[in-house]
Amino acid sequence: QVIYLKDYQVPAFLIDQTDLRFELEATKTLVKARLTMRKNPESHSQQRALFLDGDKSLVLHRVAINDQVLSDKDYSRTDDGLTIHDVPDSFVLETVTEINPQENTALEGLYRSDGFYCTQCEAEGFRRITFYLDRPDVMSVFTTTIEADKTTCPVLLSNGNAIDSGDSEGGRHWVTWEDPFRKPAYLFALVAGDLSHVEDSYTTMSGRKVVLQIFADKKDLNKLDHAMTSLKNSMRWDEEVYGREYDLDIFMIVAVDFFNMGAMENKGLNIFNTSCVLASPQTTTDLGFQRVEGVVAHEYFHNWSGNRVTCRDWFQLSLKEGFTVFRDSEFSADFNSRTVKRIEDVSVLRTAQFAEDAGPMAHPIRPSSFIEISNFYTMTIYEKGAEVVRMIHTLLGPDLFRKGSDLYFDRHDGQAVTTDDFVAAMSDASGRDFTQFKRWYEQAGTPELTVSDEYDPAAGVYTLIIQQSCPATPGQNEKLPFHLPVAVGLIDDQGADLPLTNGQTTQVLELTEAEQRFEFTGIHGDKPVPSLLRGFSAPVKLRYPYSRDELVFLMQHDSDGFNRWEASQKLGVDVLQSLTAAYQQGEPLAFDARLSEAYRSVLLDETLDPAMVAKILTLPSEAYLSELVDEIDVDAIHAARTFARQHIANALEAEFIAAYERCSSSEPYSPDADSIAKRALRNLSLAYLVETEKPQHLSLARTQFDNADNMTDSQAALGLLVHSNDEVAASEVLAIFYERWSEESLVVNQWLSVQASDPKLGTLNKVLALMDHPAFTMRNPNKVRALISAFAMQNPVNFHQLDGSGYAFLADRIIELNALNPQIASRLVTPLTRWKRYSEQRQALMKNELQRIMDSGSLSTDVYEVVSKSLV
Ligand code: ARG
Ligand code: ZN
Repeated sequence: QVIYLKDYQVPAFLIDQTDLRFELEATKTLVKARLTMRKNPESHSQQRALFLDGDKSLVLHRVAINDQVLSDKDYSRTDDGLTIHDVPDSFVLETVTEINPQENTALEGLYRSDGFYCTQCEAEGFRRITFYLDRPDVMSVFTTTIEADKTTCPVLLSNGNAIDSGDSEGGRHWVTWEDPFRKPAYLFALVAGDLSHVEDSYTTMSGRKVVLQIFADKKDLNKLDHAMTSLKNSMRWDEEVYGREYDLDIFMIVAVDFFNMGAMENKGLNIFNTSCVLASPQTTTDLGFQRVEGVVAHEYFHNWSGNRVTCRDWFQLSLKEGFTVFRDSEFSADFNSRTVKRIEDVSVLRTAQFAEDAGPMAHPIRPSSFIEISNFYTMTIYEKGAEVVRMIHTLLGPDLFRKGSDLYFDRHDGQAVTTDDFVAAMSDASGRDFTQFKRWYEQAGTPELTVSDEYDPAAGVYTLIIQQSCPATPGQNEKLPFHLPVAVGLIDDQGADLPLTNGQTTQVLELTEAEQRFEFTGIHGDKPVPSLLRGFSAPVKLRYPYSRDELVFLMQHDSDGFNRWEASQKLGVDVLQSLTAAYQQGEPLAFDARLSEAYRSVLLDETLDPAMVAKILTLPSEAYLSELVDEIDVDAIHAARTFARQHIANALEAEFIAAYERCSSSEPYSPDADSIAKRALRNLSLAYLVETEKPQHLSLARTQFDNADNMTDSQAALGLLVHSNDEVAASEVLAIFYERWSEESLVVNQWLSVQASDPKLGTLNKVLALMDHPAFTMRNPNKVRALISAFAMQNPVNFHQLDGSGYAFLADRIIELNALNPQIASRLVTPLTRWKRYSEQRQALMKNELQRIMDSGSLSTDVYEVVSKSLV
């Protein structure tokens, strides 16, 4: 049941050509496959038997080899596939298989989403469509014919170019698609239904014209402009920054409402969760707009980093995901505020990924074993994987990095390769040795840097002493030192950057030892304040004994925007940790005015980017504060943070009113960086004002709710009112909001989330009631995320109630979903896996629920892996 990287063997057989014919019917679809196969000359296997992956749900009607129909003694069926006992060296294999898209609630393979047919094959969904060598190193040329009812399925799509079409009997029709690029089965896609589309075109750098089409339900046709613009920007950016051009004559995106993840990069036919492609000012928040831009770019960039060069096996997942996340985050940084984008990415990494590294599912970005690959589409593979690529970029600089990526794409175009191949290309192109660096691919856990310094003013020498260590993770007790870039600057008492040894104001130190000293010469005057890990140059935790005054100083003077924000976070953490401790000891809470005064000067500085001001004035989240402590006291953290927010709100009330007004605009909505920044600061100001609980500020929120012409302002006000103590206002705005948006599924999801994340006690009963609301269904992953995940992940106070009701609720949902949709069920386990971080009383309750899930009957491999590893 456990699959190991060390067991990898090249495939014994290859599939040169794959011809598929789908006869679509809701409950009984026939899949006719014709596979042109041969023994792999590179395989030493002498086997004559052929094993094909195939899910137990497949109904096999016919098998033939070279037109000879096989009888049931020629092959055997098991739960995971089909073995044909004796095959020639090269042959044509034909199968006819029956599947039931209508009953496919797991949303892997071919399924129906609101009446549309669509597919999701990554990682191992193709084996739910037909018998195949379902592994990424088996690459084949595909032709696909789709035949379906003409009225219900006027649109029939697959990868590549449409080469033929026609009518067939009984009001049906067909289209044949041909994809000239060899690809693994996980990149296969099929879509059919009554879809509408928008169309545009793009001329590539070599002058080829590409048709761009985005398909969606007719009612969503007005929400596709932003995705189209983002797509064209992505195509241009990949040409300019990586020299990568699109390769087919047509590029299609399809929006579907039932989707397990965000989106999928199928060759020439990307399939998207509606939440990652639809955008309109009325229905989508600024965050939503940015998400669409980022995901469209991500999937488009996969055409090179993923499709043209793909993964040899699923242990290499970060080869395409880490690199592609790095690429999309740089794209977003170029099109928006670079510093704000970095802050957002690092915030996610430090809460969710660091927590993963500290939990029972911790794994390196190239894992060495797994039970269910779907469980490894993680923050670690994606986000930490992107950080590792970013470190290579930092170590090489942009020019050598580009040389390395050119070499990688040229050398491996059309191949299925490994993370070692990626690093080798970077190393060969730059002449640098990445042997030690590769430990990042093998060792799990978040490294910890402890920094101290010495200063000898007479000699003019300032020294940084950096120690590194990495905590044990499951299966890895001892860790070897990492090779990592530490970008530093030194700031003098006037707040100016000192020139460093390299003549610049920022220098990248390369840490390779467990302890290392770095000397800076020619430093005079008072001891400088170090600005460490600028731009978050490595995914580590860093400790340096800053005083609160030094942090205030850095907030004001650091020339590195990221570290200016980081100083505000460190100060916030320090203040909040003192408050949490006081709360736990039953002492009166005393607020350090240095924090609110630092906030005041930031808020009054109109030269700063309002988006940065909003980031700096946001206290560290409860999730981040939780990540920083050994034992998480959810109530104390919540109380401390609420106290701090109220204190800041009262201290800066006048400034927040002024900022609110300054950032108001009479211009029509636009999702450009400047307007987004103003809305962010305006809504942050409103949030603080509402924290004062003064009626006039609640009225201001209500006025904003009533008058907003865009979802960002409307939803911000809705959240504040629903989470306020004004129950009348809360139920009024909830009713108005639902009434207005009941036809917009994605907006209704926001409505569900806002209620599920209400920290006021008693939310669980509301969540239970909402499960019976007509807007909710367990079959739609977006609904499950909006209601159940929002409750379990964004509402710690209610989820962690000491009567265990939150845990029991979640376990019930996991057991229910295990049967319906194992991937989604498995994701929901995450908050329970963190049991070791809570008090003994909570630990017992959480473990109890994990055990109850374990004992609940036939668990999917997805849920089994996470639950069993968490109970160790
Ligand atoms: N490759 C997709 C992306 O990152 C994600 C596919 C996820 N599939 C899955 N079964 N978990 O863009
Ligand atoms: Zn991806």
